[in-house]
Amino acid sequence: MKNTIHIMVLLTLIAVSAPVVSADPPLAYEGRRLFVSYCQLCHGTGGKGDGPLAKAMKISPADLTITVRSRSDTILTKIITGEGRQTITGRDRHNLLSDAMPEWKDVFNERQVKALIAYLRFLGGAKHDLMGDPEAGMQLYQKYCQVCHGVEGDGDGIMTNLIGISPMDHTNPNVTNSLDNEELVRSILDGKGRFMPAWRGILSQTDVEALVSYIRLLSH
Ligand code: HEC
Ligand code: HEC
Repeated sequence: MKNTIHIMVLLTLIAVSAPVVSADPPLAYEGRRLFVSYCQLCHGTGGKGDGPLAKAMKISPADLTITVRSRSDTILTKIITGEGRQTITGRDRHNLLSDAMPEWKDVFNERQVKALIAYLRFLGGAKHDLMGDPEAGMQLYQKYCQVCHGVEGDGDGIMTNLIGISPMDHTNPNVTNSLDNEELVRSILDGKGRFMPAWRGILSQTDVEALVSYIRLLSH
């Protein structure tokens, strides 16, 4: 009962406080959206090189979860845009045998290329699958979580000063990677400590899975 009152007060506070909405969505989140539209046909949703077109190709699309780890942002930009790709030399040429990878320079602006690289870095470091729909997760996050966890997810939401708490920093990959999907789901449904509310009864299992995916994309 006490916990229920706590949550009602909180939700009222959330409703009256003007939501601070980030002008741009987080880079890895935006990168995932572009990747699903433009890259997964060949590289597969998870970037492992197993997209629907992969079997039909003479040169296999790379398993990006492995190859991008050793590539710098500059090299990745050249590979993705095609601009200056022929100037790549030495060890960085490894795996780049053909022109089977399309050139995207006229398709993406600079921020979009950065976003794609952020998502590739996420794929290279992620220890857990994205279990739900991050797009639904972003909507829910802005509505219910941002007041404490912050617009960027680094734990500096407007409520933190009001009640003197330090919520989990969702942007630290070491912290988010150390918890598996089930552990995150459980913390969200059951709450944690005195100030992380239990969302069971307010959010469905699907909602919580969407949130877990969004939180993972906030880590960069
Ligand atoms: C038509 C299929 C196709 C599409 C679509 C495609 N790629 Fe590729 N990609 C390839 C192939 C094939 C290779 C391997 C090229 C080689 O070995 O010469 C590759 C290689 C790469 C590499 C280099 C991997 C390494 O060795 O480090 C990166 C990075 C990459 N792709 C990113 C992307 C991104 C980002 C997109 C979407 C914007 C994309 N690709 C879309 C086919 C594709
Ligand atoms: C009233 C402020 C508040 C709100 C609102 C809030 N959180 Fe939290 N959250 C916290 C605090 C404080 C902690 C740290 C708890 C601790 O470790 O004692 C935390 C911790 C967490 C953790 C880490 C749990 C763990 O196992 O370490 C996750 C995941 C999380 N919150 C997700 C969310 C999600 C998703 C939402 C929105 C549905 C949300 N939080 C809303 C305050 C809040």
